[in-house]
Amino acid sequence: MKVFVTKPIPDIGIHLMQDQGIDVTIWDQDRPLMQQELIEITKQHSALLSVGPNRLDANFLKECRHLKVIALYSVGYDHIDVEAAVQSTIPVANTPNVLSDATTDIAFILMLAVSRKAFYMHKQIINGAWNSNRSTKANLGIELKNKTLGILGLGRIGQEMAKRCKGAYNMNILYCNRAANMVAEEELQATKVSFAELLQRSDVLSVHCSLTAETKGVFDLAAFKKMKPSAIFINTARGQIHQEQDLIKALQDGIIWGAGLDVTNPEPMKPDNPLLFMPNVAVLPHIGSATVEARNAMARLAAENIICGLKGERLPNIVNP
Ligand code: DGY
Repeated sequence: MKVFVTKPIPDIGIHLMQDQGIDVTIWDQDRPLMQQELIEITKQHSALLSVGPNRLDANFLKECRHLKVIALYSVGYDHIDVEAAVQSTIPVANTPNVLSDATTDIAFILMLAVSRKAFYMHKQIINGAWNSNRSTKANLGIELKNKTLGILGLGRIGQEMAKRCKGAYNMNILYCNRAANMVAEEELQATKVSFAELLQRSDVLSVHCSLTAETKGVFDLAAFKKMKPSAIFINTARGQIHQEQDLIKALQDGIIWGAGLDVTNPEPMKPDNPLLFMPNVAVLPHIGSATVEARNAMARLAAENIICGLKGERLPNIVNP
């Protein structure tokens, strides 16, 4: 039983697998794993624990159809061709639930940071531009109390964001989702609306949906134009859900007020990207799940999925049943 782990993960996951007699190989080189290398190394293993950006496309799945299990070290599974995985009958698992709190923290931080221009003001100090004589009208923020939060994708993370915004700021919650979320409707008085209504009515619009053919690029200039000029756009889900050039234009032309991003397109974002220099923008380098607690729990879940897969048991977190 041999597993290939494509980046180091917390020891707890490695030990769990080793305790079951699994031989663990970890890619720990300080450079990305090339696609062909991934295929060649994976061919020598019976299981793959995939961490990070490598695309597990139809070709990979064909070349590595011998795999007994693929465990993703992420909740998102847009980097694997799930249809091809179904065809190839390789069970695939993700790491749901355990990173919802950590990712919500980042959405919340970004919302607050944008609303008070916090990242920009911090840079002002670093640049020696703290001006005690500044006008009382300079660099004002927007308060969140009693404002309307719109959530695209009311799953675990979206629901946690809604809960926090309701509790902290008594925000009115709108959501756009395929299925109605009765818990949110009853406990948070959330209202299900169409995408068009979500755009029109949200003061803060926070993206928590998966990246799919339906959601890819859905925040384009036309969508931003339907939003309020005072609106804040937050994306902690996937960078490809918004069109970056359109977002830049929307912010430069005052079509929307601000944006907070933990995900960009492409990643990493280039250091000269105009978004990094805008007062009403806060950008983080995709750190939604980057807490000790979340990453340990992800390592444990991914390892449990590998162990079950190698034993021929059903994966606890299967995404292609
Ligand atoms: C996830 O788990 O999907 C995070 O965004 C990390 O990719």
